[in-house]
Amino acid sequence: AVIRREDYRPPDWLVPDIALDFRLDSMRTRVASRLQVVRNGDHDRPLVLDGDGLTPVALRIDGVATDWRLDGDALVVPLPGGAHVVEVEVDIAPELNTQLMGLYASGGLLCTQCEAEGFRRITFFPDRPDVLSRYSVRMEADKARYPVLLANGDPVAAGDAGDGRHWAEWRDPFPKPCYLFALVAGDLVANRDSFTTLSGRKVDLGIWVRAADLSKTDHAMTALKLSMAWDEAVYGREYDLDVFNIVAVADFNFGAMENKGLNIFNSRYILADPDTATDADYDAVAGVVAHEYFHNWSGNRVTCRDWFQLSLKEGFTVFRDQQFSADQGSAAVKRIEDVRTLRAAQFPEDSGPLAHPIRPESYMEISNFYTATIYNKGAEVIRMMHAILGPERFRAATDLYFARHDGEAATCEDFVVAMEDGGGADLTQFRRWYSQAGTPRVVATLDHEGTTARLTLEQAVPATPGQPDKQPMVLPLRTRLFCGETSGPLCDERLILLTEPRQTFVFDDIATRPVLSINRGFSAPVTVETGRDAADLAFLSAHDDDPFARYEAMQQLMLDTLVAAVAEGRGDHGAVIEAVRNTLSDPALDKAFVGEAVLLPSEAFVGEQMLVVDPDAIHRAREALRTDLGKALEGEWRAAHAGAQANRFEYSPAAKGARRLKTVALGYIAAAGAADAAELAHAQFTGADNMTDRQGALTTLVNGDSALREAALEAFYRRYRDNALVLDKWFTTQALSTRDDALDAVLALEKHPDFTLANPNRVRALAGAFTANQRGFHAADGRGYGFLVDIIVALDRINPQTAAKLVPPLGRWRRFDEARATLMRAALGRIVETPGLSKDVFEQASKSLG
Ligand code: ARG
Ligand code: ZN
Repeated sequence: AVIRREDYRPPDWLVPDIALDFRLDSMRTRVASRLQVVRNGDHDRPLVLDGDGLTPVALRIDGVATDWRLDGDALVVPLPGGAHVVEVEVDIAPELNTQLMGLYASGGLLCTQCEAEGFRRITFFPDRPDVLSRYSVRMEADKARYPVLLANGDPVAAGDAGDGRHWAEWRDPFPKPCYLFALVAGDLVANRDSFTTLSGRKVDLGIWVRAADLSKTDHAMTALKLSMAWDEAVYGREYDLDVFNIVAVADFNFGAMENKGLNIFNSRYILADPDTATDADYDAVAGVVAHEYFHNWSGNRVTCRDWFQLSLKEGFTVFRDQQFSADQGSAAVKRIEDVRTLRAAQFPEDSGPLAHPIRPESYMEISNFYTATIYNKGAEVIRMMHAILGPERFRAATDLYFARHDGEAATCEDFVVAMEDGGGADLTQFRRWYSQAGTPRVVATLDHEGTTARLTLEQAVPATPGQPDKQPMVLPLRTRLFCGETSGPLCDERLILLTEPRQTFVFDDIATRPVLSINRGFSAPVTVETGRDAADLAFLSAHDDDPFARYEAMQQLMLDTLVAAVAEGRGDHGAVIEAVRNTLSDPALDKAFVGEAVLLPSEAFVGEQMLVVDPDAIHRAREALRTDLGKALEGEWRAAHAGAQANRFEYSPAAKGARRLKTVALGYIAAAGAADAAELAHAQFTGADNMTDRQGALTTLVNGDSALREAALEAFYRRYRDNALVLDKWFTTQALSTRDDALDAVLALEKHPDFTLANPNRVRALAGAFTANQRGFHAADGRGYGFLVDIIVALDRINPQTAAKLVPPLGRWRRFDEARATLMRAALGRIVETPGLSKDVFEQASKSLG
């Protein structure tokens, strides 16, 4: 069944209060709920409570036992009056819950995941985000197995229940939708700390993990305290309960969950120490801790009216966590990383069969809409409003938004109206960002005559499924002109607002030939064709004053070179080599930036530029350019590698930058075919005091064919076989290998005793990662597709949500040659025809077939 945004109706019944009583047991948990229900409006419809796989054990209305009727999975309760007390009891089996939605078991703990529609797997309830209730929760469990009992809000009482059992009661004073409900029971220890808010509330903080992991929680705790202070300083948002708890679990369908006062995390976004986590892992931990904490206001205090509004909380919260991370280190490098993610994950979505606007119009399964479009493009849309209003007016507008909608379930439209009222802007046309899918394309032409430069910009939004015709968008483009001769700017930066299909912008007093710097900082999530030649791009990569624009010019130069090489069979690498040499030798640049700027675009991104992707030709062209860069600049790479040998591990922007450049340089030394490259890598591998250097060296060895390769893989495996998060890296490094035998290696790893479909991280580490290995996954014989289909079909039986996330790479079939496209369609067909398929996977596969 398809759910449509236009069909929204307010709930028939409200539930201002709910009391939940859990008798916890991994095989049979009894859940007793007591709901105060109130008729909403003038109607005579029954109370309908959502359920998923539940059967009531008992039902009482106002204390009187009653018969019930199930309509599908829902419980239908006819009620005569305006207000009643409804009590329901059900039994559930957390241990058998392989979907990891609702109440489930993970490594001996019991925990919950309710967003989006998991609460209905715990008890019957109106499972929709616009029904807000005050929760009180009582849990009782075996004291030895589950010594710690946590739920949302504040702890109110606890005691012994006899028979080796104990109980605890928690109360959350803030009304919330059921998707924010959470409980955890288990043998956990806490890293405890506290934070005192601006107005003097002392908050007890706890990060709960298995005892063996306690030493890996300090970084997350530091990030949490920084986030709390940052949200006060930048958005005026204070925390509002006396406790804030985070729990890390090993089996989790995605990153983390912002349950009120009790965030639950995939352990990969909490645990970090130098021996097991890379710098990227440290950054991701801090970013996700911040993200979930920021949801307390953008998501919890102001929640969503319905799931079509998901980007209201996710886009805004991603924007907030991006701003936070930018403030902790290099803002330029953070922006480069965020744009790289957008291009790798969202642009393909926007140009494929699953394209949807950030506020979709319909869905079959809402879990399929936790996408890069909702999250990352959603964040770009907020960022554009920030750019249009400027920081002060944006802050006034968010203040108004939070004040106006505190305690409410709001819409994206409410957010935009608050931006208009609080920020003093007319966003009528801007709203198209919420309704139109597809990445806008801009073509820029710069003419110069006398002392006048004219910039003509044309925009078009490509057709997407269900949206053949598009209206022009509002595109904020930060623009500046540079003098190609003196390398100085010819004007101040201008924020151009492109609103028409075609517009010309005039720059006066431009005496010399201008070079165009446009979409600086990636101010709009669009593609821009400028026709700038290699010389201008090289010039900007060396002289633009916007670091992102410098990076972008270099990327464009590399892309142009690679696209030409694929078309002509061989490339002219001179311009790229000189530009990289300049960047490497610029003493003013920080190492983290250099490490990013000299990296070639991924094979997938090169493919995105082509009408028909030729994975083998792209791979050859890119490896040839890597080799030439390695050889031509071997001295520079060796100097960079040697110069970045930091002393003891330290997590600071400077040390991170040094490690980044060190491994990038090592990769180029290996690409040059240097005789001692493997020894260098091996020395880095064995001498490393941190995972960044160790994994960087391992990657270099794994991509090569030295005798040290197998030994390194073996050593890494033996050292970390009991650490699931590090073992994931072992799988991923091999899945991403650039070698010819990557596919064979992946097929062998699928049979490895440590590979399991039961753990989503492990599935993503092998199968998810491999889909990003363009040449390996798209092997001409179709074995890569067959591998993926087998995994999707097998995983769908136990965990449809995680299985469905693996489908989209097959939907890119329109972009490949006839033979591959046929194989990809056949693969999708095999999925769609599987008996008993979940609606999650069915929606993704059938839409991908088109
Ligand atoms: N709200 C969570 C977060 O972004 C993610 C929930 C994902 N839910 C899902 N069904 N995929 O922080
Ligand atoms: Zn989120």
